Amino acid sequence: MKIIDCVPHELLDAVNVFSKELEWARRIPVYEVHKWWARRYSGIVRLFLAFTELDSELLKSVSDFSSFVRNLYFNPPKVKNKKLLDPFAGGGTILVEGSILGYECVGIDINKLPCLLLNSLKVLPYMDFKKFEQNIKTIADYLLDRLWRTRCLKGHNAYIIHTFLVWKNGKGEHQIRSNKIKDGKLKFYFCEKCGNTYASEAEQTRCTFCGNEFNKSKRYDKLEYCELSPYAIEYYCSTCCERNIKKTTEEDLDNFWRNTTCNLLNIPKLSETDRLLKVGIRDFSQLLTPRQLLTFEIFLNHFNTEPGKTLAKVLVSDALRSCSILAYYSEKYAKVIPAFVIKSYWLPPQPVELNPLAYRFLNGRVLPLGRGNIISAFRKLRRARNFIIQYKIELRYKILHGPAQDILPQIDETFDVIFTDPPYVNYQYYSDLSLFNLSLIKEVNEQTLTELLRKELTLRHKKDLMNYKKGLIETFCPAVDRLSNNGKLLVTFHHPDLKMLYTFLEVFKKLPIRLQAIYPVIGESSGKLIERKIYLDLLFVFGKQQRDIHYSFTTYTLTKYDKLLQSSIPTLIEFYKE
Ligand SMILES: C[S@@+](CC[C@H](N)C(=O)[O-])C[C@H]1O[C@@H](n2cnc3c(N)ncnc32)[C@H](O)[C@@H]1O
Ligand SMILES: [Zn+2]
Ligand SMILES: [Zn+2]
Repeated sequence: MKIIDCVPHELLDAVNVFSKELEWARRIPVYEVHKWWARRYSGIVRLFLAFTELDSELLKSVSDFSSFVRNLYFNPPKVKNKKLLDPFAGGGTILVEGSILGYECVGIDINKLPCLLLNSLKVLPYMDFKKFEQNIKTIADYLLDRLWRTRCLKGHNAYIIHTFLVWKNGKGEHQIRSNKIKDGKLKFYFCEKCGNTYASEAEQTRCTFCGNEFNKSKRYDKLEYCELSPYAIEYYCSTCCERNIKKTTEEDLDNFWRNTTCNLLNIPKLSETDRLLKVGIRDFSQLLTPRQLLTFEIFLNHFNTEPGKTLAKVLVSDALRSCSILAYYSEKYAKVIPAFVIKSYWLPPQPVELNPLAYRFLNGRVLPLGRGNIISAFRKLRRARNFIIQYKIELRYKILHGPAQDILPQIDETFDVIFTDPPYVNYQYYSDLSLFNLSLIKEVNEQTLTELLRKELTLRHKKDLMNYKKGLIETFCPAVDRLSNNGKLLVTFHHPDLKMLYTFLEVFKKLPIRLQAIYPVIGESSGKLIERKIYLDLLFVFGKQQRDIHYSFTTYTLTKYDKLLQSSIPTLIEFYKE
C-alpha cells in the first residue's frame, strides 16, 4: 500500500498547515511570474505526489508529522520513467511540481494565456537573458522619452508614474469620490472646484485655497464611464531625486490624449464582463488610456523573434491588471490597487493610469516605479529564472493548447498519475477574466473566442449543468483510458452547494475507475483578500482496483462551508457505492 491509500488525519493536518505556511512564508518565484486564477497550493501538490510514490510502511516510524512533512517537501522522492498528465493545467502548479519530482509531464489547457506562461518558464534557463534585458531597456527608454515625459515642479525633465483620472458625469463635471490622492506622512489633495493639487502633513477637511468641503463619501451622479479626465500626476524626477505629485498642465494633457487606432476585442456578454457592458464600455481598449495602448503596441512589436516574443507577451499580460484604468488609489491601503486582485471586472471610484514602463536606476539596478508594471513583471521573471537555475529544476513538461476533450483521444501514451483540478462550476470564469489580456497580446479574435466559449468547461447557469457534466465525461473518459493499471487519478473539487458534489461524483461513477480515498485539503492559494465561502478542496483519489474507500478529516476548517464540505464525505461515499 502507498501512503495515498491511507493518509491518517495527523498527517493530513500537518500537510495542510505546512502547505499554507509555505505559501505565505516565501512566495515561490516560479508561481509568481503571472497570475492565473484558482491556483492550487504547491505544497499540497508536491506532498500528495510523494504519497503516491511512498510506501505506507514508512509511516510506522513517524512520531512527529510536521517534521516528516517538512523533510518530505524539501527532499521529495526521485521519480524515474513515470508520466504525469494534467488535462486542465492552468497556472501549471501540478506540472511544475511533477517536474520537480522527476515525472515527465503533459499538460493541456484550452486557454492560450497559461500555455504561453508555461512555455516561457521552460525556456528561461536556456535563453540569452542578458540580451533580452537589454532589449527591454532599449525599448523602455525610447517609449519613456516619447510618451511619458512631464516636468517636475522645478521644471526639470521627469517621468510620469501615475496619472490620476476622474470619470465625468453627463454634464462634464468631475466626479470626485475622495479628494485625497495619496496618504502617508505627507498627504496629497486635489480640489475639484479650484483645480489645485497640494501636499499637507495634517488631514484636510476642506480645500486650503477655496474652502471646498472634502467630504469623505461624496455622492455623485450616475457616471458616464467613457469620459475620462486627468487631473494630477505623480512623477519621478532624477535631478531632484524624488517622487512628487503635481497638477496636470496643458502640455501634460496634450501628451495624454495620444491618437491611436488600436481597437481590441469587442467585449462579449459573459458572466464577469456584463458589468462593463452595463456602464457603456464596449471594447477592451477602453480599459486603457490611448498612451498605454500605444506603449504596449510598440513594446510588443519590438520583439519579433522567439523566445523574446512570447516572453514580452507574458510580461505585458502580467502588467495589464495594474495598468488597466480599473486600477485605483485605495485610501485604506495607501497605494494604487490593481484591477483583478480578487477576480472580477468592476469599476473603481477613481481610476489611475499607471505608466507601464516607469522605472529608475538605483546603484546600477533597475527599480520599477509604481506597482506591477512591465519592469516589475520582468523582475519576477528574472527571480523565477534564478530560482530554476539555483535549484536545478528541470521543467520536463509538454504543453498542448486546446480543448482537452479533443486532444486526449489523440494522445498515444500511458500515464502513471493523472492529477488535475478541473473548473469548479459557477465560480471562476477563466475566459471572461483573461479575454482582456488575450486581446491585448493578440491571442484571441472573434473566431477563436467562439471556439473557446463552445469548448470551455464552465457552468454559467444551472440550465447548463448537463453540458458541464457532458464535458467532464468527454474529458475524463479518454483520460482514464490512458491511465496505467496501477495508476492513480487525483481530482480536486469543491462547491458550497453540496448537490454539485454529487453531480461531480456521478460522472466518475460511470467511468471504469474506482474511488479509493477522499481527503479535505487546503484549496486555492490566491490569498485571503476576500472572505471566501470555502477554503478546502476535496481531493478524490481513484485507481483501477476496488478497495475500501479511505478518508480522513482535517481540523483545518475555516468557514462553516468548509465544515459542511468535510462532513459530507461519509454520505458522498455512501452515494458513490450505491
Ligand atoms: C482550476 S484551473 C487549473 C488551475 C491549476 N491547477 C493551477 O494550480 O494553476 C482549470 C483550468 O481548466 C481550463 N479549461 C477549461 N475548460 C477546458 C477544456 N475543455 N480543456 C482544457 N482546459 C480547460 C481553464 O482554462 C483553467 O485554466
Ligand atoms: Zn479648492
Ligand atoms: Zn526636478
